[in-house]
Amino acid sequence: MRVGLVGWRGMVGSVLMDRMCEEKDFDLIEPIFFTTSNVGGQGPDIGKPVPPLKDAKNIDELKAMDVIITCQGGDYTTEIHPKLRAAGWHGYWIDAASTLRMEPNAVIVLDPVNQHVIDSALAKGVKDYIGGNCTNSLLLMGVGGLFREGLVEWVSSMTYQAASGAGAQNMRELIAQMGAAHASVAALLADPKSAILEIDRKLVDTMRSDAFPTEQFGVPLAGSLIPWIDKQLDNGQSKEEWKGLAEVNKILGTANPIPVDGLCVRIGAMRCHSLALTLKLKRDLPLSEIESIIQSGNQWVKFVPNQRELTAKELTPTAITGGLQVGVGRVRKLNMGPEYVSAFVCGDQLLWGAAEPLRRMLRILLA
Ligand code: HSE
Repeated sequence: MRVGLVGWRGMVGSVLMDRMCEEKDFDLIEPIFFTTSNVGGQGPDIGKPVPPLKDAKNIDELKAMDVIITCQGGDYTTEIHPKLRAAGWHGYWIDAASTLRMEPNAVIVLDPVNQHVIDSALAKGVKDYIGGNCTNSLLLMGVGGLFREGLVEWVSSMTYQAASGAGAQNMRELIAQMGAAHASVAALLADPKSAILEIDRKLVDTMRSDAFPTEQFGVPLAGSLIPWIDKQLDNGQSKEEWKGLAEVNKILGTANPIPVDGLCVRIGAMRCHSLALTLKLKRDLPLSEIESIIQSGNQWVKFVPNQRELTAKELTPTAITGGLQVGVGRVRKLNMGPEYVSAFVCGDQLLWGAAEPLRRMLRILLA
C-alpha cells in the first residue's frame, strides 16, 4: 500500500512519526513523504530507504497514493482535498485537521470507542477518516464505557487544556512566561526573610507589564488561566465548547444526540488535557459497578481510585504526559442525586488527542 505522508515535520506529525516507528507501521507500507517547502529533499530516517520528498501540492503525485495521511493543517485540507477528489482520486484520506470532521461523508476516528462506526463506514465505501478534537477524544477514551452501555443521559465537561492544543509556539511561550515570572522575583525568593506579599506584588506587576511575553496567547497563561478556547460563536459558546456535542455524538454515531456541554479553559500544562466531568446517568447504579464499567472502556484506561494521595500522584498531567494511558479518577456520586456522578479525565492530547487515532486507522486499512 502506497501511503503518502504530509505534514510529518510539525508537532502532531512528529508525534505520529515516532509512534509509527515504535509500532513498526513503516514495515507494512510503502511510505512516500511529501513536503510544501523542500521538494526533492531527503526524506526522514525511518530505518528504510524512502524516495526524495515529493510536492504536497502536486495532485498527480498525490493521486498515485492509496492512502494519504495529513497533519499539515486545515488550510492544506481545504485547498487540496476537493481538488484530489475532483480529479477522481478514490484513496483513503486520513486527516488530523478539523476541516472535514462534520462532513456527512467523513467519519471521526477513535477506534477503541467507535470501531463499529468505522467498520460500517468502510463497508459503505466511505473514504475520509478524520481525527477528532482532542478534548472529546480524551473524554471518550476516559469514560467511553459508560457511553457504550447507554448509561449517559448528559455530560457536563469542564476542561483544563494544555498549551500544546494551541500549538508548538504556545508551548514555548508558556515556558518563557514561567521564566520571566520567576526571574522577576528571583532575588526576593532567594532571601528567606523577604515578604511574600511583596513577591506577589512584583510578580503581578511583571505579568501585567507589556514586556511579559504574550505574543501567542495574547495574555499571561503561566500563573493564570484563559477561560476561552477558539472562536466565539453567536450563542455564547466557544467553538471548542460547540465541538463537545457535535463531535461526541458523531464519533458514537448516536441516533438521538446526548447533550455534552461545558466550559473549556486553557491552563499552564504542556501537553495533557484534563476534564472535570459531571455525568447524569440514566439509572442509579452502585458506584463499584460504575467503576468497573469505566475500567472496561478500553485497555488504556488507567483507573485511579478516589483517594487523595493516589490521585495527587497518578491523575495529573505530570504523571500522564508522554504515554498512551488515559487517567480516570475522582469517580464518586454527587450531592445532586444518585444518578449524578463525577469523574476527572487526564490524557496526552498529542497522542490519543491527535496522532494515535490516525495511525490506528491506517492499521485498520492494512488489516
Ligand atoms: N482545540 C484543541 C485545543 C486542540 O485548543 O486545545 C486540538 O483538538
